[in-house]
Amino acid sequence: MGEYRIKGGKRLKGEVRIGGSKNAVLPIFAATVLNGSESILHNCPLIQDTFISIEILKHIGCTVTIEKSNHGDKFGNTIIVDSSKAHNWNVPEKFTNMMRSSVLFMGSLLGRFGKADISFPGGCKLGNRPIDMHVKSLKKMGAAIKTGDMLCCRTMQMQGTQIHLDFPSVGATENIMLAAALSIGETVILNAAREPEIVDLEHFLNGMGAKIKGAGTSTIVINGAEKLHSVEHSVMPDRIVAGTYLTAVAITGGEVSLVDIWPRDIVPVTAKLAEMGCQISETGNTITLKAPPRLQYVSKLETSPHPGFPTDLQAPFVTALSVADGTSVVAENIFSCRFGHVPELQRMGADIMVMQDGRNFVVRGVEQLKGASVEATDLRCGAALILAGLVAEGETTVTNSHHVERGYQQIELDLQAIGANISYH
Ligand code: UD1
Repeated sequence: MGEYRIKGGKRLKGEVRIGGSKNAVLPIFAATVLNGSESILHNCPLIQDTFISIEILKHIGCTVTIEKSNHGDKFGNTIIVDSSKAHNWNVPEKFTNMMRSSVLFMGSLLGRFGKADISFPGGCKLGNRPIDMHVKSLKKMGAAIKTGDMLCCRTMQMQGTQIHLDFPSVGATENIMLAAALSIGETVILNAAREPEIVDLEHFLNGMGAKIKGAGTSTIVINGAEKLHSVEHSVMPDRIVAGTYLTAVAITGGEVSLVDIWPRDIVPVTAKLAEMGCQISETGNTITLKAPPRLQYVSKLETSPHPGFPTDLQAPFVTALSVADGTSVVAENIFSCRFGHVPELQRMGADIMVMQDGRNFVVRGVEQLKGASVEATDLRCGAALILAGLVAEGETTVTNSHHVERGYQQIELDLQAIGANISYH
């Protein structure tokens, strides 16, 4: 298993291009099963979760070709999925254990075959992550679902209906969209998730002939199409990677331009960075950030569904607030146990108190973090620890790099390019 070694203290400065989004490409991969044809996907991030999705698609009987960019860098990676010979509706445990979002194949396999056998996704470091809303919604659309170790789903054809989600779950919204694309009649999702990645999924599905309206709002209407066709699509930029890099530069008092992003999607993040003293400007698809020598505290950082502050950036922001001037309160409102980064940051000298509910933290900014050997316990925890290493005195080793590789394509190269002393071993 790999690790990152970081020597802290460098002020980061330069320009970084942002690649395709993990959270957009994963539901899109699941959607490629639906058209029984070719899907050409540009700007795919070549991260671990992409490779797991490709393995699932091959297991289902799809042909997958990866064409790497000609530029010798990570941009423009094209993946072609041909689902015409797909013949298998089973996603075994070896995949669902590695990647929770493999549960999204439930909707697309049901849509394509009327059958899906998916191993129950395993536990997760972020706390209890039920899929009750996925199951309830697909049942309401006419699927018979037996639960146990395996979710065995059967239907003659998915039926349009009205579904009100108790909470705007990203995954449940996507699963319903996938299951409804080839259904009979109209499906209306009320209290749908409004994340930008849902909009990208709508564009992709409509590109193959689906009839979906309203993604990005709380009401999504899907009219089942009779048949879908081949499609070509460019995956949206990764707003979470962008937010991670902005935070990385901000804590080093640096200056950066992020290129090829959609600034509007990152407003919840740039607004907080501005509150912490950064100067932010936008031109077209570029954001420029100029950080003060020391960041300021925020009175409250609360995660919430989009357009609120994204839970995926809570951990990197806790790192930033650990070295900011003053005391901040952070509330994690999406996941029950998303604080794996806290004990590791404490080992580096951070002053963080987790309240009994595990969802509220008080972060008192310290003068300096100290390098240590720390362990990534999940993807964003790993990113937060790398950020801590960038400002810590001495050397930091972040072990369990595989968590980070699930969502960042060679993070060390991007950070090296703007002056960080980081290496991967
Ligand atoms: C997606 C993102 C993840 C992000 C999260 C919240 C992907 C691949 N992953 O995950 O990076 O952190 O959105 O923005 O896009 N819940 C239930 N029952 C359900 C479904 C969800 O109780 O049936 C709960 C979850 O336990 C969690 C909350 O709802 O507490 C939000 O989950 P959800 O929006 O579904 O997140 P994911 O789609 O898993």
